Amino acid sequence: METQFQWQHVDHGSPDWEAVVELRREVLRRPLGLDFSPEELQSETEQIVVAGFDGDRAVACALIKPLPNGWHKVRQVAVDPSRQGTGLGRKVMEECERYSLAAGAIGIEMNARDTAIPFYLRLAYLIDGEGFEEVGIPHHRMIKRLGTNPA
Ligand SMILES: CC(C)(COP(=O)(O)OP(=O)(O)OC[C@H]1O[C@@H](n2cnc3c(N)ncnc32)[C@H](O)[C@@H]1OP(=O)(O)O)[C@@H](O)C(=O)NCCC(=O)NCCS
Repeated sequence: METQFQWQHVDHGSPDWEAVVELRREVLRRPLGLDFSPEELQSETEQIVVAGFDGDRAVACALIKPLPNGWHKVRQVAVDPSRQGTGLGRKVMEECERYSLAAGAIGIEMNARDTAIPFYLRLAYLIDGEGFEEVGIPHHRMIKRLGTNPA
């Protein structure tokens, strides 16, 4: 089945929203023995959800949070374990870049897990600064400017 991508403000509580939260939980939280708090999910209502669906199952996702300084923060990038390494991660990041460029963002920044750094380097993201810990594991900030915006 071909994966269909979309970006939108997904209504919290809708079946699409639940499918994306379940993918994030399975890929990003359960392996660390963690889950999302209701407050955490509630704080995301203004973020854009980029997701690829096989039917009604979410198989790839990311969230985009526009920042006051004109950059967009991409977070919660996840691909279904059975589909990792097949190009879906690249596709979801390309969809994020397409959205952010169209929205006039200067660039994209993220807090990348160290294990995912080779993936982001492949997509021309650069490491910015020293490493730090988030959800108990090592991360680095990574950035990529979009388009030709000189700002
Ligand atoms: C990291 C993740 C999003 C990548 O998605 P993916 O679908 O597996 O990656 P893709 O198949 O699209 O790979 C894109 C490119 O990156 C490369 N790549 C991906 N993971 C890599 C790795 N660990 N080391 C080196 N290269 C890697 C691929 O070889 C591919 O290169 P190519 O297009 O030149 O052939 C996915 O593996 C995942 O969900 N991992 C677990 C959760 C996670 O770490 N999320 C990121 C949190 S910051």
